[in-house]
Amino acid sequence: METIKFGLIGASRRGQNGWLLHDPEKGYEVVAGADTYKKSQDEFLAKFPEADIYEDYRDLLKRDDIDAVMIATPDFCHEEQAIAALKAGKAVFLEKPMAITIEGCDRILKTAYETGSKLFLGHNMRYFASILKMKEIIDSGMIGEVQCGWCRHFISYGGDAYFKDWHSEQQYSTGLLLQKGAHDIDVMHWLMGGYTKRVSGMGMLSVYDKCARRSPEERGDVNWYPNNYPPLEQTGFSPVIDVEDHNMIMMQLDNGSQACYMQCHYAPDAERNYTFIGTKGRVENMGEAGECEIHVWNRRGSRQNPDIIYKLYEMTGSHGGSDPLMIQAFLDFLRYGKRPNTNPIASRNAVAAGVMGHYSMRNGNMPMDIPELDKEIIEYFENNQVKK
Ligand SMILES: NC(=O)c1ccc[n+]([C@@H]2O[C@H](COP(=O)([O-])OP(=O)(O)OC[C@H]3O[C@@H](n4cnc5c(N)ncnc54)[C@H](O)[C@@H]3O)[C@@H](O)[C@H]2O)c1
Repeated sequence: METIKFGLIGASRRGQNGWLLHDPEKGYEVVAGADTYKKSQDEFLAKFPEADIYEDYRDLLKRDDIDAVMIATPDFCHEEQAIAALKAGKAVFLEKPMAITIEGCDRILKTAYETGSKLFLGHNMRYFASILKMKEIIDSGMIGEVQCGWCRHFISYGGDAYFKDWHSEQQYSTGLLLQKGAHDIDVMHWLMGGYTKRVSGMGMLSVYDKCARRSPEERGDVNWYPNNYPPLEQTGFSPVIDVEDHNMIMMQLDNGSQACYMQCHYAPDAERNYTFIGTKGRVENMGEAGECEIHVWNRRGSRQNPDIIYKLYEMTGSHGGSDPLMIQAFLDFLRYGKRPNTNPIASRNAVAAGVMGHYSMRNGNMPMDIPELDKEIIEYFENNQVKK
């Protein structure tokens, strides 16, 4: 069995997920990293002393012995780096969100289609046990035909993670509805069996604009501190904040169903709470990872008394055990062509709803239509990246 060799672009922080790829006994080796930040370079080399580290990702791409790369850099780097990697003939694992514009996503898809280099999107929520259980319930027909989906996304660590570095500026992230919501919009599309065709949004920056800022010379500290509460007492915020800290969008899907997503960055607790309502019942997650429950209602009654309760348990690995499952799916996709749960068209359509939702909330809440993709490109990706 031939060894597959990997390079990590963004070698630490979220790039540490790529460290899981390294399993020489099974024929997978991380041989190089590229990172612009000394601390991340050092962390990578401490983990992989035999590997090479580059400052410029283009030097990593020049290496013929590297078969695949994982790109886990900030969102605004994704488009350029993914296109360069695909053109260099590397298979690409690209973190979500695919890019910060719809055009950027479409350019990545087109490049993957033209080069034939494989593309995998890192939507790990498609490997969360809670999401998979809700999908199984919906697919079994237990709640009938789903017509309505809602997600309330409470984020306790928003001030720590998203308002102290590049995330806080539209030019680098477009906005947090897209940045964070790419996960949730994707989950809603997946479980509801359609893609958003029209979206309208409202959002505001209403809390974190009032917090103490760091100086532009200082690096933002994006570590999470449980004692950082209440929000107005937090400090060290980005000099420039032009993204919303509260986002709400309504979506009409192409299969006639409707969805709603709400995201708040200054909540005291953290959870994604989804519910899907069909013609025969309703499903809701109580907790999103670890020990949590999925509740199902099939008869008239009260919220406190679901008809069925499924109990889920702690799983090993980050993000509720989803990261190692997703990494395995990437390896199986590379080596055996096995179809993963994630798919690049879905990633693009999640970005599209996020971008247009932001556009709507910044332009009088107008309903915005999602631009359609080329049919040939859709067909290629729906066929698991095999040309017919
Ligand atoms: N799927 C998930 O659960 C999940 C979780 C966290 C982050 N993410 C995604 O991962 C990506 C990285 O997030 P993060 O919080 O680790 O970001 P980050 O700002 O910490 O950057 C990640 C790494 O990339 C490096 N880097 C920055 N610019 C670079 C460049 N031009 N070339 C090479 N390296 C560069 C940084 O030094 C850092 O080591 C984002 O796209 C984010 O959306 C996904």
